[in-house]
Amino acid sequence: MSFRDKYSEFFEQLDEKYFDEERFVPAVGPEDAEVMMIGEAPGANEVEQGEPFVGRAGEKMNDVLKDINVDRGDIYITNLVKIRPPDNRDPKSDEIEAWAPLLEKEIENVNPDIILTLGNFASRHMLDTSKGISKIHGRIFTREGQKIMPIYHPAATLYDRSKTPDLEKDLRKAFGKENTGQQKLSDL
Ligand code: URA
Repeated sequence: MSFRDKYSEFFEQLDEKYFDEERFVPAVGPEDAEVMMIGEAPGANEVEQGEPFVGRAGEKMNDVLKDINVDRGDIYITNLVKIRPPDNRDPKSDEIEAWAPLLEKEIENVNPDIILTLGNFASRHMLDTSKGISKIHGRIFTREGQKIMPIYHPAATLYDRSKTPDLEKDLRKAFGKENTGQQKLSDL
């Protein structure tokens, strides 16, 4: 069943001003995933390929996941807003509100062990906070019984590479792959 069919009740009630077939990108990943990632909104590459996080930010995320031995295919990856905002602007609060009921349905359906919110928009929305990501990343919060960990958006690490070790550290923590400092023989 397609994403649109699965959540048809949501799409039937969505005001048409918040929808555009040409800029729509559904979520991807297993519905029984243990980890769910929530981004902001798709960009041009995502629209072209019909999948979240396949552009530069996605490549960065893939690199970090590979470094810590996590299979991207095991993660349910979605966005706050499923339509690419025009001119790559930030999503507006009415757009986030219009798409929020769908996100709640996805969370209910996937029921992951942990939700990772990528960057300020997803983290502020899910945690109902105005605190910035640099203050709260890597900490585990509970929202309606569900664990949520805000992490840096991979795009932020492209602009500021000093954030990459924090992104990696937080992802390790989320996936239970914390670096013990132990060296492998193959590292010698
Ligand atoms: N950035 C996001 O927040 N989501 C995507 O799908 C791609 C880039």
